[in-house]
Amino acid sequence: MSRGYTTTTLLCFCALSFIFGRFIQEIPGLPQTKSGFTQSGSASKASRRQAIEKVAEQQVRLSQDGKPQAPGRRQFASFEDAMASTAAVQRAPPVQPGQSGNDFYSSQPLQIISWYPRIILFPGFIDEERCAHFIKLAKARLAPSALALRKTEEDQETEDVRTSQGTFMSRYDDPAGVISWIEEKAAQLTGLPVSHGEPFNVLRYQLGQHYDSHYDIFEPESYGPQSSQRMATILFYLSDVEEGGETVFPLEGQYGMERLQASGFNFKSCVGGYQYKPRRGDALMFYSMHPNGTFDKHALHGGCPVVKGEKWVATKWLRDKCFSLPCM
Ligand SMILES: *[C@@H]1O[C@H](CO)[C@@H](O)[C@H](O)[C@H]1NC(C)=O
Repeated sequence: MSRGYTTTTLLCFCALSFIFGRFIQEIPGLPQTKSGFTQSGSASKASRRQAIEKVAEQQVRLSQDGKPQAPGRRQFASFEDAMASTAAVQRAPPVQPGQSGNDFYSSQPLQIISWYPRIILFPGFIDEERCAHFIKLAKARLAPSALALRKTEEDQETEDVRTSQGTFMSRYDDPAGVISWIEEKAAQLTGLPVSHGEPFNVLRYQLGQHYDSHYDIFEPESYGPQSSQRMATILFYLSDVEEGGETVFPLEGQYGMERLQASGFNFKSCVGGYQYKPRRGDALMFYSMHPNGTFDKHALHGGCPVVKGEKWVATKWLRDKCFSLPCM
């Protein structure tokens, strides 16, 4: 009995090694050992996938920057084409989509940062050029409206709660379509339709500017019942920050709520909790609601003072109901 089991296990092991071996070899131009992606058949599912994505991305970049190609490098017109050339996709190509679906795969790495609240990081969500474009558009809006803005900003400054400068922007403010591209990509990743999003709130934080910890949701306890709620938020970081400017979640963690009771808890504090250091192009998504629709109090968050450099962040609030036409 036990002998039979061992034989089966061995056979399975051989079959798996064979499959993994083939799988890894088939990925064209996989980065060699330095990156660690190609190490042995014991590589986790996640790292194999990353390897595929990395290769696809590099090939798109190489074929787009117009520089001479290394011999044997294939060129691809789009990210989807590059994806389609990978072994994984050749083995399991996209299936027939529904009426409103896509007939191609998209890809974006993600990292689960926390379950209390649910925070998901999408590294490199927006490329450098699109970040620069978005900042340029926002800057142009901040400058001429400085007077009108200053009024509200001064009000806020006296309260010393939120000292950044900001503007609201929608896809209609960007004929080049970058804002719309970001919205579409976010919708595809989250399954939350574009129509559930409020316009982007683009903020610039300069030296010393900050945003005290707060909730994005309209807390039922303070605001009463709401017809629509901000169920999730995506923060798109359009710039790096030399120093400071972290996004802080002071109550992060399974027992994070206990910190609220601790003496000296301060909504301005940037000590403790979970802190994310801004990185250009990243998108950080968190939910302000539990899956059952109740308010997740772990979602308290704020922006720490910028110590050096400048921070640009575009905030997208996603509602549980349709917010902008056309609804879907
Ligand atoms: C909703 O979900 C949260 C988190 O799982 C839980 O703590 C809470 O008791 C739930 N509330 C209701 C009314 O189901």
